[in-house]
Order: sequence, then structure tokens, then C-alpha cells
Amino acid sequence: MAWGDDAEDARLHGTHIAESVLDLIGNTPLVRLKRISEIHGIRSVLAMKMETTNPGGSSKDRPALEMILAAERDGLLWPGRTIVEPTSGNTGVGLAIVAVQRGYHCVFVMTDKVAPEKVQFLRAYGAEVVVCPVAVPPDDPQSYYKVAERLTDERDAFRPNQYANPNNPAAHFATTGPEIWRQTGGRITHFVAGAGTCGTITGTARYLKEQNPDIQVIAADPDASVFSGGSGRPYLVEGVGEDFFPAAWQPDLYDGVIPITDEQSFLTAREVSKEEGILIGGSGGMAVAAAIEVAKQAGPGDLVVVLNPDSGRGYLSKVFNDDWMANFGFLTESADCVSAVLEARGSTPALLYVNPSDTVRDAIEVMRANGVSQLPVCKNTPPFAAAEVSGSVDELDLMEAVYRDQAVLGLPVEHVMGLKLPTIGVGQRIAMAVGMLDASPALLVLSGGRPLSVLTRSDLLSYFEATAGAAHG
Ligand SMILES: Cc1ncc(COP(=O)(O)O)c(C=O)c1O
Repeated sequence: MAWGDDAEDARLHGTHIAESVLDLIGNTPLVRLKRISEIHGIRSVLAMKMETTNPGGSSKDRPALEMILAAERDGLLWPGRTIVEPTSGNTGVGLAIVAVQRGYHCVFVMTDKVAPEKVQFLRAYGAEVVVCPVAVPPDDPQSYYKVAERLTDERDAFRPNQYANPNNPAAHFATTGPEIWRQTGGRITHFVAGAGTCGTITGTARYLKEQNPDIQVIAADPDASVFSGGSGRPYLVEGVGEDFFPAAWQPDLYDGVIPITDEQSFLTAREVSKEEGILIGGSGGMAVAAAIEVAKQAGPGDLVVVLNPDSGRGYLSKVFNDDWMANFGFLTESADCVSAVLEARGSTPALLYVNPSDTVRDAIEVMRANGVSQLPVCKNTPPFAAAEVSGSVDELDLMEAVYRDQAVLGLPVEHVMGLKLPTIGVGQRIAMAVGMLDASPALLVLSGGRPLSVLTRSDLLSYFEATAGAAHG
């Protein structure tokens, strides 16, 4: 830290002026979540490490600084050199800030799952951003890992590679861990954090366990991520969970991994923002949801620290947008909503679907056996993520295609499928469904971010018939 006592500039003597923004990284505050504790009947002390007060607004400023300083020490970086990194945003912001201060050009590679605000953020610091499709496997040349590799070669760039760089966990070992230890007077009993690269949880855990091996370290994880035993299939919360195990994954340091759904993550982020006046993102919501479980189990003398990696400002168009939340089936807008129609239909049958590799003959068979005229085409097996829906097949279209050429019967449906069905949330208004069914014969209903059922015009007609006399809106 160089706070205004720089020996070279007598004018700063006795002032409290940081030398540069880099000196403001770290030393983030801890704050109690008292109202959340009351609401959830928590008797232990629950406190949140507010990484939002870092200059880039996230915990990633710490590894960004450490990775660049280490690369300079190792002779891998010199002024004017380019830095290339695939990042969901926060590491990019950290690297961009450090790069501005130390004279590097940055190129960031991101997936199209990331909120658009995050792309603008990086461009605001003068960085270049390349956006790649999320729906391709990691070894596809279009995947963000592969594009980053190609750009590194083409520009002869330095690649911090936060997923394999030991200076990522080292930054948290050197700063986050000691800060929490100091701020809690060594009384911390549980530490809860989300894991992406695992830099935060591993670096912090290693430091805390060195001080007191009894401290419980718990990872919060999206329920589809591999850390909590999932398969790495898509989920919506950003920045955490993986479909592979990064270098810093060190399970011997973790006492538990708690799987959290997208729904729990987003609703908890909104709850913390509304109840505590602290705007946190979806991954912060996920960490707090896990911390609430931990803190409920903990005794009254325990002190649970949860790390909040970033602010909800980066997710205003998603987590804090009621329409977006309702469309994924995370919010109920009115009692007169799609779920009332599904309930009236009787017990909701399992979602009818076909896989992209099923044949047209298979699809026709499913439609005939179940008396339906549209099917979504979904990858993998249920329960599907919304991102695993790749298209739809329609009886009428198939009939025309088979009439033109009977060989179509044996083709995989992905060769003939149409666009995805428009989606509607299970809690969205029936009036909205009526409007949407004007343009499409069927809608895909989402609940908790997942496809639940197909809603057709005849479902609505039956519902209106059964409830005739009541007002709809
Ligand atoms: C929003 C957010 N939360 C949590 C994390 C996880 O931190 P780590 O990569 O240190 O495991 C990240 C990582 O990018 C993130 O962007």
C-alpha cells in the first residue's frame, strides 16, 4: 500500500491518497446479514465478505493483479504486449484495470450466455471483446476456449489462464484469507463461497485452515455443475460451476459442496438486495443460499462468512428483470397464469419430446401415441435445461416433408426440425399466452428455468370452457 506517503513526492506527505487504483484492490469489508438471519431463523452469526468494493466491483481484481505482477516478475509481460483471456467478465474487468495502469492491450473472449452489460464494461476500459456461442462443446473451434487459444497464437499474446494459473489461488491465499481471519478476530468457524476456477475457495481455504484446521469450508455450486456431482449440463447462473475440474480444485480442502438451483440462486439474490439493501449477483445469491443452509445448522456461537463475488448491477437485464425472471418460470405474475391451465388439464404429464438424433418416424410415433401435433426437440435426457432445446417438429410440416420425399422418414429430426417453440413462464398471465398463440400453434412452458410442458390452443379452449363465466386477465 502506498497511501500518500510516497517518499518521492513530498506533496503527498500526510495525505490519504492512493497511488493508483491498484492500491484499492482488496481490504473489502465484512457485513452482517441480520435481516436475512432473522427471516431464516439463523442463530449463528452470518456475515458477508463484500467483494463489490474492489475497484472492478468483484473478487477477480485480486487474481488479476497477482497474475499480471507474477508474469512481469517471470519476464512474460512487458509494456505494449497483448493479454488474451477467456473470461465471463469479472476477471476481464480486473485484468483490464491492471492492464490500463501497466500498459497492456487486452482481448477478452466470452460466451453469448453472459449479460450484455458485462461486454460493455470491458469495452469501457478500452479492451477488445470477442463473443462466442455457449452451445458448442469445449473442443469445437468456435468454443470460447479454442478461440482464445487461436487469438493467443495469432497475436503472440500472454494468456494469464486463470483456470490453471497458480497465482489465482495464491492471490486469495495472500489477501482474502488473511483479511477474513483478521476481520473476524480468528473466530470464523465456516467459510462459504461459490467455485468457478476454484481460485477463491482454494486460496482462502488453504490460508484459513492453516490458522485453524477446524474451520469448515463449504463450496456452493450450481446443481448441474460437476463440483456437486452434476454432469456440467447448462444452467443460468453465471461465473460459477464448471463442466470440468480446474487446476485449483482441491477437494481435500472442502468439507462439503452444496448444490443450489438457478431458482434458489436468483430468488436469494433478489431477497438479499431487497432485505439488506445490498445488490448482489446470481452467483452471490447462490453462495448466500448455501450459507443460509450452513448457518441454520451451525450453533449460536458459530461465525459463518459467505463471500459475495460481485454486484447485481451486472445482471439488471436478467436476475433483476421481472419479465426475464417470469419468462423462465422463476416468478408468478398473477393467479390467472399458465399454471392454472396446466392444473385444469389434470396431472401434468412428463414433457413429450424427441432428441435431435431421433428419426422423423420416431417423432411421428410419439405424436400419434400421445395425440399431440408439436414436439420440442431437446438434447440429452430430462430434466432439460432451457438451453438444451434446439428446435421443434410440427405434424403439418412433417406431413408435407414426407409427402415430398418418403426417405425423410428415416432422417434425424435435426435435419428437418423447425424453430424452437416460443417460451412462456408457468407464472405468466393467461392473457399473454392467448396473444402468443395467435402467432404460434404451441408454446413451451418453462418452470424454474426448465421446460415443463407444451401449451396449445386447445389447452386454452378447454380451460376457458371449464371455467366459463369467470373473468380472465
Ligand atoms: C460472478 C462470479 N462469481 C464467482 C466466481 C468464482 O470464483 P473462482 O473463479 O475464484 O472460483 C466467479 C469467477 O469467475 C465469478 O465471475
